[in-house]
Amino acid sequence: MPESDTAHRSSADRAARPLAVVSNREPYLHSLAEDGTVSWSPTTGGVAVALDALMHERGGVWIAHGAGDADRLVVDAHDRVSVPPDAPSYPLRRIWLTEAEEHHYYEGFANEGLWPLCHVAHVKPIFRAEDWRAYQAVNERFARAVEEELPDPAAPVFIQDYHLTLVARHLRALRPDVRIALFWHIPFPHPDQLRICPYRREILEGLVASDLVAFQLERDRRNFLAAARTELGAKVSRSRVYFQNRSTTVYAVPIGVDFDRIQAVTHGPELEAEKERLRRELRIDTPLVGIGVDRLDYTKGIPERLDALDRLFTRRPELRRQLTFVQVAVPSRSKLESYAAVEGDIDQRVAAINARHAGDGLAGGPIRYRKSALRIRRLVALYRLADFCIVSSLHDGMNLVAKEFVAAREDLDGVLVLSEFAGAAQELGDAVIINPYDVGGFADGLEQALDMALEERQRRMRALRRVVAGRDVVQWASDILEGLEHLDPRSMPAPPGSAPRKAPSDTRIVSTSSPTAGR
Ligand code: F6P
Repeated sequence: MPESDTAHRSSADRAARPLAVVSNREPYLHSLAEDGTVSWSPTTGGVAVALDALMHERGGVWIAHGAGDADRLVVDAHDRVSVPPDAPSYPLRRIWLTEAEEHHYYEGFANEGLWPLCHVAHVKPIFRAEDWRAYQAVNERFARAVEEELPDPAAPVFIQDYHLTLVARHLRALRPDVRIALFWHIPFPHPDQLRICPYRREILEGLVASDLVAFQLERDRRNFLAAARTELGAKVSRSRVYFQNRSTTVYAVPIGVDFDRIQAVTHGPELEAEKERLRRELRIDTPLVGIGVDRLDYTKGIPERLDALDRLFTRRPELRRQLTFVQVAVPSRSKLESYAAVEGDIDQRVAAINARHAGDGLAGGPIRYRKSALRIRRLVALYRLADFCIVSSLHDGMNLVAKEFVAAREDLDGVLVLSEFAGAAQELGDAVIINPYDVGGFADGLEQALDMALEERQRRMRALRRVVAGRDVVQWASDILEGLEHLDPRSMPAPPGSAPRKAPSDTRIVSTSSPTAGR
């Protein structure tokens, strides 16, 4: 067989190799209706959709917390269920948590501790010893489940996010040779900020037990390398951490969206009808439409966005009759005080703006607020209905709504108004970039979006689409997984006291710098 054929076959074999994905959030959830029937729904978040696409392509097993109230009713004796439920493609192994475990591990340590630690959104991180104990125990349980479920000994393990920082360490103790990659989806804090966490050393040790740790941005990668050096005393090269006789490769690999799937929806025969349904349901009778689509989270800058809209309607009162703004916010982590507080704040602001800018025979005011998730077809129709889409995060790892909006605009219209503090701003410099803390500047950005000539809108959207199509979710996943497969096992352990080795030159991962928006 010619050498090129061999090379081709081995890369095809790698592509076909099944995978173990581990995440806290499950991709499909079963719920019980009042009449006792069981229904299911896909998780709507961008990451879940991205990893689900990856599982369809590669096969393997997905291990996640079974959080639905009917989840236990549909699993087999090994706690597995085939998903998607309407067209089974791969097994989902569910991990059960007690209420106390969920409270301390998920709500407490992950979302009252690590989440605010990693996001500059002025919510104080809370670290409690009992939350940490639960987090450790649950991470160990996840690791044992991965070990039980590994589809084959060579199957790579893909760990998703900050809930599961200790899984790699436990798994490596059970299976020393397993190949592990962890994707850190959210921003990684500067070492000065990380010092707030009393358990930072254990978390860093957990992370460097992976063979590869991938971040969204170059900034996050640099913060992690600096923390490994200062907190662990590890040797650090440009893209590796050497610690306790092994090494971890560290890259920046920004996540993308499932561009083709979104395109397919835009080509569907239902798009126009769906847009009309949305118009009716949301009572939109203005020529102009703005939208925002977010998880209801204090990091998303929704109050700041409402303040900018308030300023806009005050500056240009004629817009009250011309513009409707639709805010979709999906309730999230609602048991936490910080989330309940932002939800209450948004409710009040929406009511106040609607009261202030209604009148003169205008019923209801200019904001339509919907607190529930939209399935993909409706979401894409909403994206296509919009003259502009606002993403105003105070701090965000990436923000996939920004990329989804662009993927949906095959018509080359619509303006993306994007916070400079969203990771997406590093790649999407042709958006109208705003600072959510500067209410006047933000309102200027909205005016710029509204007044922009068609030719300029098309130029910008064309440029944005080139970026989003060029780095979709398949590219993201294969960058991480191929990077993992290409690591040379012989180069991994660093002899004690030796100088750090250079990163392998054959890696296909792209480490991005900051080509565009200023941060
Ligand atoms: O933004 C990424 C992320 O933190 C995921 O890890 C998580 O699943 C998602 O946001 C939604 O959060 P949650 O799972 O707490 O609803």
